[in-house]
Amino acid sequence: MGATYGSARVLVASNRGPVSYTVGEDGSLNAKRGGGGLVSGLSAIGSDADTLWVCSALSDGDREAVRRGVGEDGVRMLDIPADVHADAYNGIANSVLWFVHHMLYQTPLEPVFDAEFRRQWASYETYNRAFAEALAAEAARGAAVVVQDYHLTLVPGMLRELRPDLRIGHFSHTPWAPPEYFRMLPDDVAGQVLSGMLGADRLGFLTQRWADAFTACAERFAGGLGGTRIGVHGLGADADFLRRRSHERDVEERMAALREEIGPAPDGGARRTIVRVDRTELSKNIVRGLLAYRRLLQTHAEWRERVVHVAFAYPSRQDLAVYRDYTAEVRRLADEINAEYGTPGWTPILLNLKDDFARSLAAYRLADVALVNPIRDGMNLVAKEVPLVSDAGCALVLSREAGAYEELGEDAITVNPYDITGTAAALHEALSMRPEERAERSKRLAAAGTALPPTRWFLDQLEALRADQ
Ligand code: G6P
Repeated sequence: MGATYGSARVLVASNRGPVSYTVGEDGSLNAKRGGGGLVSGLSAIGSDADTLWVCSALSDGDREAVRRGVGEDGVRMLDIPADVHADAYNGIANSVLWFVHHMLYQTPLEPVFDAEFRRQWASYETYNRAFAEALAAEAARGAAVVVQDYHLTLVPGMLRELRPDLRIGHFSHTPWAPPEYFRMLPDDVAGQVLSGMLGADRLGFLTQRWADAFTACAERFAGGLGGTRIGVHGLGADADFLRRRSHERDVEERMAALREEIGPAPDGGARRTIVRVDRTELSKNIVRGLLAYRRLLQTHAEWRERVVHVAFAYPSRQDLAVYRDYTAEVRRLADEINAEYGTPGWTPILLNLKDDFARSLAAYRLADVALVNPIRDGMNLVAKEVPLVSDAGCALVLSREAGAYEELGEDAITVNPYDITGTAAALHEALSMRPEERAERSKRLAAAGTALPPTRWFLDQLEALRADQ
């Protein structure tokens, strides 16, 4: 078959790309660049001509950019029809595959795999095919392609058929469901997901636990891994970037503002802070975090007026009603606790639902305690970032269900995320930790949390993909 070859030697494919566009009032397009592990990884390779990031247009601004032919070197945005993208992204990726891997269903009533699901699944196939075809057209002979995440599980298999010459990798940034939960998917769909993934030469996961879960699913439902290799790459925090960025002026300004809001303790000293920063995400367990904080104030009256819970939860996936409802519940509960315990000079919870990176870093620097209590999480970089950035070192209250637990468990105070009483006790223990011990532990947490910087994380995968031939 006469496949034509493109010129890219290293390709990344992900739903969300490194840049997004908005249309200004005067009709001009404004580009906003994102960060993260892949961005630093790709930039480390150098030479723009050889790398290509294939992503989806997500907004009207992105679509407009594609139509006008505006774009960045090294990025190709796919203008997949908005309704197809919505079915694939909201309907399948975020409402089904995300729920399965994070085990989020309230099973007496959901999931329901009906005709509507089948219709959306067809869109998910179309959306994956659009990526596979774009990658096939752009990749040079023998190029390495690294496909990202649950949005694109079918791409490796589809691409393998189109371009058997390529080295194909896939990396999961989420957990993987254990077989008993994964088999909730209709059998043919589960089979498609697994054979799509197994079209890759190499599959990467954030922890051994998720890699083992995938292997177990492949063994039970797909006859094993075949020739596909599995690798574990525990993405770490970007120490250089965070240290520098967290000392810039806008962060200092927000620290001053935040200190003002936190206010002084009754004895005139500084109030303690329990900090959490998340996407407003069902798996992050923000509601139980608030319940645990309320429990702490109930059972340890000595902390009243002396601690503030700084909870930043920036908006995410607001097209989905269940995310909007969850956000509303977070807000309602925080208001309720503030009304119950607050005094004229003390607001027990400073909740903020707007995205402000500089302010998040300001909160990191002020943190005495970091609360990271997800019900299930691929890694959770916040757990790695706060100990690194906090000025005086922080105590980390960490869910045993976060991928980061594998690396940080020893120096964290571990919690079962469903156990409110246990989490409240952990918060008390964290707040009571001696400053020297806290600083020592924080140092070790920061070292463990930066062991695999984003650039190394990406290059390791690429080297392994090329070496496994
Ligand atoms: C998780 C996923 C990513 C995703 C991110 C933000 O980390 O693994 O693939 O990009 O959440 O979610 P969003 O739906 O806004 O892209």
